[in-house]
Amino acid sequence: MGNNDITKNEIFNENQINIFIPGRLCLFGEHSDWAGMHRVMNSSLEPGYAIVSGIEQGIYATCVKSKDFIVDSSIGIYDGESLHSVMDSDKLLAIAKEGGFFSYVAGVASYISDNYSVDGVKITITGMDLPIKSGLSSSAAICVLVARAFNQLYDLKMNIRGEMLAAFLGEQRTPSRCGRLDQACAYGVKPVYMEFDGTETYARPLRIGKPMYWVVADLQASKNTIHILSDLNKCYPFAEDEKERLVHEALGIDNKRFVEKAAAFLEAGDAYELGKLMTEAQENFDKKVAPASPAQLTAPVLHAVLNEQAIKDLIYGGKGVGSQGDGTVQFLAKDLECRDALIRYLEKEKKMPAFSLTIQPGRTVKRAIIPVAGFGTRLYPATKGIKKDFLPVLSSDGILKPALLILLEQLEEAGIEQICLVIGAEEQEIYDTFFAELPEKNLAKLPESRREIENTIARLKKMITYVFQNERLGFGHAVYQCRAFAKDEPVVLMLGDMLYESETNENCTKQLIKAYEQCGRAMVTIQQITLDDVVHYGIVHGHWEDEKEHLMKVGNIHEKPDRDYAKEYLGTATRRKEKLYYAVFGQYILTEEIFAELGENIASGKKSYGEYQLTDALDKVREKYGMYGFVPAGKSYDIGLPSAYRETMIKYGNHGS
Ligand code: UTP
Repeated sequence: MGNNDITKNEIFNENQINIFIPGRLCLFGEHSDWAGMHRVMNSSLEPGYAIVSGIEQGIYATCVKSKDFIVDSSIGIYDGESLHSVMDSDKLLAIAKEGGFFSYVAGVASYISDNYSVDGVKITITGMDLPIKSGLSSSAAICVLVARAFNQLYDLKMNIRGEMLAAFLGEQRTPSRCGRLDQACAYGVKPVYMEFDGTETYARPLRIGKPMYWVVADLQASKNTIHILSDLNKCYPFAEDEKERLVHEALGIDNKRFVEKAAAFLEAGDAYELGKLMTEAQENFDKKVAPASPAQLTAPVLHAVLNEQAIKDLIYGGKGVGSQGDGTVQFLAKDLECRDALIRYLEKEKKMPAFSLTIQPGRTVKRAIIPVAGFGTRLYPATKGIKKDFLPVLSSDGILKPALLILLEQLEEAGIEQICLVIGAEEQEIYDTFFAELPEKNLAKLPESRREIENTIARLKKMITYVFQNERLGFGHAVYQCRAFAKDEPVVLMLGDMLYESETNENCTKQLIKAYEQCGRAMVTIQQITLDDVVHYGIVHGHWEDEKEHLMKVGNIHEKPDRDYAKEYLGTATRRKEKLYYAVFGQYILTEEIFAELGENIASGKKSYGEYQLTDALDKVREKYGMYGFVPAGKSYDIGLPSAYRETMIKYGNHGS
């Protein structure tokens, strides 16, 4: 019942948001989250490490601001029930403490009410295809969903870690107990590397080398998670005998080794080695952890399927899930055909309901952002009557077009499917007018070739979403308004006052997207400039990753440096030992980490030059995860300065597109 239409047709306005939160599957590192928490008492323990992935199934909801806290749904599992409570922490806490179906949502709402000055939200669950009580953590998914609804509707400026913490602490207010790794579903359908050190949790999404095909099956047996947790927790915080010492070793140093290797195999796309590692991790668990809870962890049904030859032929490896025991099993299938054959076999021969999870490299880029809410001071008074992005430019097809139309056409040609324009709320009419159909009498005046453009505009209109920037707090702030639109996926960012002209048959955006697909990190297009010009631009410095000197691993970004500083520190050496200077030129691939950094800067009021700058967030992401500069085969043209606009008018369009 995956309701994909909801995600496709989202309307991002201030009134309504749609949210999808997946369930999660722990691939490696089960039990190490709570074991790592025991470092609060015993610092000689190892921190916990795990790899957790969102799965394709989850919970879908539509959310609006409301005076009270309301959760309802017309879907089956709600059975006509709904929750309607005043937004009062004590009342919500009482509902949470009662336990049961609505306790989770009430737990998170009471936590939010205690910590933020907000009214309520109304959450309507529109779809749910996550098996409940399957070890896939539907409770963490609903808790993250409530945290995200408050966060986005009231702009609470929580990053993903903040949402995870609110979900965790909210669930702690109910009689249910969850681990610290369950909330990894907040990252979406992708594997996340997590570390648990005392009360702290760290997480970072992993870049996946190649698609990998998991199968998860319900063993149709039984296990008692509370019993397992109670047995294993007796071994902590201090081991009192050899059996307990082995549990520490398995969930500590051994686990660290398994998780580090697994992350490397996932990133390298090595399914064969990863599968072998799953089997080894299970064997280690059986040898060192199972003896501490033999009644539950001997798990005869789990081991029978893991050892069955018909299954082994289809997989590279397999292991238990969650708290382990005879609950759920996971396999890494050899390929797509093996995955389908395995699901058929499990369901038909073993009567075990099974589903698949495909872990794949970050999707190619399908969304783009163009912030156009700026006032355009440098072009005043032209910008008093016309928005900068509507300034006309003679395009290579001989047609005089608003700059925005040229950008939109380029994005469509590069395979972009959804485009978000950041505008001021008072400006919507201007854009609505541009995208509206031309009245029949005007259409009739146009020659055939110009009528074609009306079809293009109508097609582009379907791709457009508006996001409003009510206060003009800078470029970084404008970009941050698109965080819900970006949906944790990589997105193209274009400036509304920069045009690009390619020298090949692939336009500059397409070239950028292709470069991103190779290296999977945040990217900026860069262009060589003279040392005299560095004072006007953001300058990047780094080293070349490729022979053609098109892809630069960025080591430093410096906004508008002075000439002497740039000469000393910001020249990038070519292979011929020349020093050249490269400026950021208005096209970016933003990854989700950049939105998280922007969020932190905005929450803490960190501005540069009086505004929230994208460069500050980019530099943080560069430091933590790495970032690339890309020199496209083409040229960029500025229309944001009077003299540059004149040059663009003269030169743009003379070289084909
Ligand atoms: P600029 O830095 O060129 O600002 O913004 P501006 O206001 O358009 O022009 P000047 O500098 O005052 O002459 C880069 C891009 O970011 C958008 C702009 O519309 C432009 O496309 N922007 C900037 C916003 O959407 N909101 C802002 O608060 C600032």
